[in-house]
Amino acid sequence: MAILPILEAPDPRLRTISTPVEAIDDELQTLIDDMFETMYEAPGIGLAAIQVGVPKRILVIDLQERESDEEDAPVVRNPMVFINPQILEGSEQLSIYNEGCLSVPEQYAEVERPATIRASWMDREGRIHEQTLDGLLATCLQHEMDHLEGILFIDHLSRLKREMVLKKLQKARRAA
Ligand code: NI
Repeated sequence: MAILPILEAPDPRLRTISTPVEAIDDELQTLIDDMFETMYEAPGIGLAAIQVGVPKRILVIDLQERESDEEDAPVVRNPMVFINPQILEGSEQLSIYNEGCLSVPEQYAEVERPATIRASWMDREGRIHEQTLDGLLATCLQHEMDHLEGILFIDHLSRLKREMVLKKLQKARRAA
């Protein structure tokens, strides 16, 4: 496995529209393993293939929630792979999360998205899933699916807010 470099805004490659995966082969399995390792290392809870420069419709998500509400409760890993994901339906009811992105490091902003979605996808064994998702998983999947269309979470903000985030990012990069 390998830790891959993560593209950061405003890298134009993040604006690529990713293409569907056509074959589940060894190369794809290696990419998925590398994406998980890269995401855990970062650390983050979701990563799209385009964020490591591969314009394919592949996402990995692991919310890494704690076993209980206690602060020191052990984190449970639940790695999920979404290949060629689709949103079939989104609720009118919206929810707001303070989102971040490994491609917009250290920057967070509130984004409103449908609270519940019906989604379909293929896992790494090629099995098709169709499920209703809500909570953080629904938000995370929508955020990651935006990456497949070349969209970043900051695109959901007002122009003023977006420019502020990009400026802060630039400043932080200069200071590093
Ligand atoms: Ni992201």
